[in-house]
Amino acid sequence: MTTATAQAFPNIAFIKYWGNRSDRLRLPANGSISMNLAGLYTQTCVSFEPGLAADALVLNHVPSLGRSLHRVISFLNVVRRMAGKKDFARVTSENNFPTGAGIASSAAAYAALAVAASHALGLDLSECELSRLARLGSGSAARSVPGGFVEWQKGEADADSYAYSIATPEHWALVDLIAIVANEHKPVGSSEGHRLAGTSPLQAARVAGAEQRLEIGRNAILARDFAALAEVAELDSNLMHAVMMTSSPPLFYWQPASLALMKIVPQWRKGGLPVFYTLDAGPNVHLICEASSAEILKSHLDEIPGVISTIQAGPGGPAHLVPDCTLI
Ligand code: DP6
Repeated sequence: MTTATAQAFPNIAFIKYWGNRSDRLRLPANGSISMNLAGLYTQTCVSFEPGLAADALVLNHVPSLGRSLHRVISFLNVVRRMAGKKDFARVTSENNFPTGAGIASSAAAYAALAVAASHALGLDLSECELSRLARLGSGSAARSVPGGFVEWQKGEADADSYAYSIATPEHWALVDLIAIVANEHKPVGSSEGHRLAGTSPLQAARVAGAEQRLEIGRNAILARDFAALAEVAELDSNLMHAVMMTSSPPLFYWQPASLALMKIVPQWRKGGLPVFYTLDAGPNVHLICEASSAEILKSHLDEIPGVISTIQAGPGGPAHLVPDCTLI
């Protein structure tokens, strides 16, 4: 039996990934930039066992079948092929944050699975190889492999579509205050959404401007220029949601409280509070602020009707092995 356990953090994108050039290889339409989220994590234990008749998956203590299991099996097949091994695996995975409501749990899940499964099969992969591998499980997982502030270059092909750190977690004390406005599972997941992106007449324009937004976002992070990052990240989030809403069929992820926050956050910023919003494929609103403003922002959020709770996270490190199979 060969076993390994890994932890990985989810991430929040400031410049978004939406739409693929190849759905099978998850080669994105454009590059993206994100920050890993410390304190929230997925921990995954993988053991390849000669006696097993099939792969088995337990997610948050519940045996998993259907689509989630098949996605994991396809991913394990890739790792087995790379290692030249045939044994089936038992995969046990837990999140310490709510699944499926705007915090990209698949990012942390496939980053942790890539690290644990490859290590268990004796592969000694570099960070870049791990990021490419994680990408095959979930695009945004490529960005949860390196630490801190991360850019995923779209690349020309499989070999050069991977993510790397552009700054360490210590570089900038930003905080993601996630306003939870709905707890239920989103009706249309990201994988389905990526397939619909090309049906929007706005996707081509969004992709055409992505290089410029990436450069502005990257420079803003490197210079710790909050105002510049705020402007480009809100624009990029709005562009992605415009594509979602004009796809066929259209995807509407917002709740009334999501829109209320999108309207009030720029006003708070004008009033001197350094904060901006960004939303993924879900209704919850990620409010990014400097750590020194987190407390006051939290008290503002407590006043907004429809905000059920908040989750707070600073910049997180890379996906990493942990000593044993003890779960959370
Ligand atoms: C809206 O990585 O979840 O969060 O590759 O199908 O797993 P799959 O999609 P996923 O897409 C993330 C989309 C997003 C934006 C982003 O994180 O860049």
